Amino acid sequence: MSVTVKSEREIELMREAGRILGTVLRDLSKEIHPGMSTYQVNKLGDEMIRSYGCIPSFLNYQGYPASICTSVNEEVVHGIPSKKRILKDGDIISMDAGVIYHGYHSDAARTVGVGEISEEASKLIERTKQSFFEGIKFAKEGCHLHEISNAIADYNESFGYGVIRDLVGHGIGTELHEEPQIPNFRQERRGMKLYSGMTLAIEPMVSAGGYSVKWLDDDWTVVTQDKSLAAHYENTVLITKNGPEILSLVE
Ligand code: MF3
Ligand code: CO
Repeated sequence: MSVTVKSEREIELMREAGRILGTVLRDLSKEIHPGMSTYQVNKLGDEMIRSYGCIPSFLNYQGYPASICTSVNEEVVHGIPSKKRILKDGDIISMDAGVIYHGYHSDAARTVGVGEISEEASKLIERTKQSFFEGIKFAKEGCHLHEISNAIADYNESFGYGVIRDLVGHGIGTELHEEPQIPNFRQERRGMKLYSGMTLAIEPMVSAGGYSVKWLDDDWTVVTQDKSLAAHYENTVLITKNGPEILSLVE
């Protein structure tokens, strides 16, 4: 499949999908507290998504068994919710979710602290989020894709963080994963030219230590090799002539 440019009608549906997902992640973030299991996080998120008439797109995606990816501390992405995983004071949790609204996808992620967290952890969360905003300065017609990648990489690396290389952002629309792939680490080539109407899921995944990751035996959970803390921040973004329109952010 090649890169798609969405029509005004499609963009309207993606705006609604994004508005719903942004609301779910905002509200779910407020529910996070010590003593809660990641199973409960998933259950709440799943119910919220369905209450808006959306389908959780991750459930059964390539066999993934839940609606919300819950990744704690050194887990980067794709953690599997479990009744046995109880969040404790000082943990950080990344929540990644996707919804389908009238056939159109939105994909977004937030990392939040559980109770009181260290300054190191809160800086990692804030800077990972800020790197997304550094990247989308280039999310406008006429810029090139890897200007986004390089801005994300440079910002994070200026703090000595590791930018995960084994996973990338992606185009999104009638499919969860469409072309192009969007790396978060530095690229030699400038990448494709961006056009108004492209919709991209831009998602820096950042470690407080090295960028190397491995997969746990469940074949889903991605963790940092050196067990350092990791954060994830993602939104579905529309490219326009004037700049980015962030579809999945509701504050
Ligand atoms: N946001 C994730 C990504 O873009 C999607 C996770 S798919 C799932 O890779 F199967 F893990 F849910
Ligand atoms: Co994604």
